[in-house]
Amino acid sequence: MNLKEIQNIAVLGSGLMGHGIAQSFTMGGYPVMLYDIQESILETARNHIKNSLALFHRAGLISAGDIDGALAGLTTTVDLKWAVADADFIVEAIPEDLALKQDLFKQVEELTGSQAIIASNTSSLNLKDIGAKVKEKSRLVITHWFNPAQLVPTVEVVKGAATSDETLDTAYQLLLKIKKTPVKLYREVPGFLVNRIQSVLAREVLDLYDKGVASAEDIDKAVKGSIGFRLASIGPLLTMDLGGLQLWCKVLENLLPDTQSATHAPGVLEKLIAQGHDGIKSGKGFYDYNTDFSKGALEAAVKKRDQQFLHRLKNLYWETEV
Ligand SMILES: NC(=O)c1ccc[n+]([C@@H]2O[C@H](COP(=O)([O-])OP(=O)(O)OC[C@H]3O[C@@H](n4cnc5c(N)ncnc54)[C@H](O)[C@@H]3O)[C@@H](O)[C@H]2O)c1
Repeated sequence: MNLKEIQNIAVLGSGLMGHGIAQSFTMGGYPVMLYDIQESILETARNHIKNSLALFHRAGLISAGDIDGALAGLTTTVDLKWAVADADFIVEAIPEDLALKQDLFKQVEELTGSQAIIASNTSSLNLKDIGAKVKEKSRLVITHWFNPAQLVPTVEVVKGAATSDETLDTAYQLLLKIKKTPVKLYREVPGFLVNRIQSVLAREVLDLYDKGVASAEDIDKAVKGSIGFRLASIGPLLTMDLGGLQLWCKVLENLLPDTQSATHAPGVLEKLIAQGHDGIKSGKGFYDYNTDFSKGALEAAVKKRDQQFLHRLKNLYWETEV
């Protein structure tokens, strides 16, 4: 199936990721069917989308008319058959449970024509396993979005062993069309690109914190204002080219023997978890969120984060303003 043939989108699962994915497609002008197992979950998803569209409008990224258009293009349903009947591109964003995904993929194949592309948002499962019960595997692909899906530009588009080149390219072109920044992976590797890179950064950051080299505030400040500042505009390989490869080679040879290389989650995380700390949700993580912590604190932090992300999205990724 090529890009021109894609007219209708279905998103299966309307949780944290699914509602943001649905919002991205409806903002991109596609009619979207958003499916979940309960009406009340879909109601919550629709409210999240409404609130987020209002933030996009306030940030000057979309017009008031665009909000109405996006909401008019969004249909929610608990009827899977209706959700996928006319869909040409289907994105699955249900829980990370292999058996659940396998069954859903099988049902979707039975309910759709053999042409529709079926994409999984899996973080860690193999496309071969997810599609084990699907007959026509060339139309399966992974599109891995990042939370919050409506705001983070990058989507990893991953080719499974049986994915056709056309499926990979159509998924890529579709994401470009809705103003995302897709990247292609020509084969599956655990964690794809971004989670692999992020896990190495996390391991070193947690080790430095655990050794008491600097405070949590200063570690965050240092990363945000240096590599974070740079990486928001130029990638790590271009950074190396600009700095000089000989210098990078020397620095890596000097530092790598001293950096963390453990293959298990750093102990500092286990220590905090054992003390009942789970970050902002529990009132304490690396920072203290006060003892009178309430649900409002998490919502306020998410809203502040989204406003900052919108600012960057507008300046770094979306050229046209309304
Ligand atoms: N949370 C993240 O940061 C993140 C990032 C990238 C990818 N992912 C992946 O995206 C997928 C969804 O993650 P999430 O965080 O949105 O989960 P979530 O729990 O927030 O949402 C899952 C939704 O699927 C619904 N659901 C459950 N069973 C279903 C079924 N049989 N059919 C349809 N809907 C069903 C649930 O009601 C829920 O609304 C997972 O595969 C996850 O690994 C998550």
